[in-house]
Amino acid sequence: MKGIILAGGTASRLKPASFVVSKQLMPVYDKPLVYYPLSTLMSIGIRDILIISTTNDLPSYKELFKNSHIWGIEISYAEQKTPGGLAEALLIGDSFIDNKPVVLILGDNLFHGVGLGKQLMESFKEPGALITAYHVDNPIAFGVVEFNQKGVVTSLEEKPLHPKSHWAVPGIYFYDETAIERTRKITRSSRGELEITDLNKSYMHDKQLKVIALKNHVKWFDTGTPDSLLNAALYVQQNQQEDGLLIGSPEVVAWEAGWISDQTLSELALAVNKSRYGFHLKEILSGTK
Ligand code: G1P
Repeated sequence: MKGIILAGGTASRLKPASFVVSKQLMPVYDKPLVYYPLSTLMSIGIRDILIISTTNDLPSYKELFKNSHIWGIEISYAEQKTPGGLAEALLIGDSFIDNKPVVLILGDNLFHGVGLGKQLMESFKEPGALITAYHVDNPIAFGVVEFNQKGVVTSLEEKPLHPKSHWAVPGIYFYDETAIERTRKITRSSRGELEITDLNKSYMHDKQLKVIALKNHVKWFDTGTPDSLLNAALYVQQNQQEDGLLIGSPEVVAWEAGWISDQTLSELALAVNKSRYGFHLKEILSGTK
């Protein structure tokens, strides 16, 4: 299975902070935001990952992840020259996807939940697509889904003025290999974008869209605004201080999955040993956490 992280966009709601820094490279407490969706993909078991970003920002991602093969994963890169919508990521990633199932995750979405990766992986069944649902107070800011007790989607709307439910659709999507041909049939929305909700609707119309509700054991942040970015950072800080574990650490996910050895984790910890992050890595390795 392939994974795509979409880390493009202009981050207009974060200006002036985002004038010269890509949103997904901004820190969420102790690590770059993009580490979190990357770790989520890895926890699903995905090791072949494409990062899509703007022409300006791609070099920074290449620099950040220049040694990521040490984590037991392979990262490729592609450009989204102009913001053409989330579904466009699948067209950009066409040759990378190579007719395989794919998970698309948004680079500004942070998920945290013990066992979440495994739960998602087990819930996705081909043929079809899988989305998630998260209960929110302000559904108008998101894709909004209605579903029945069997997890079959009955309605789906993008940022509706009058939402039919309080279930937002977070930015992680599982697709079978028909996703690209479906995306090609979508017409651009009034804002000129290929909307992910339209792709999901194509699966819904064929009765091939499943949804899994992320309940109490999972926390989700869409970090598009200064407040949500800060709230995510406070959440990570509080949780890490309480249990000493690292949220959104590719090193830890790779080590837990057995993709890297104790020796490699120890070397990775040494490389950042002046930081609290490095200290945590050492503690986790020594089994004190
Ligand atoms: C996008 C999607 C929306 C989804 C959200 C999750 O919105 O269009 O359906 O609920 O991501 O983060 P955006 O945040 O890009 O406006």
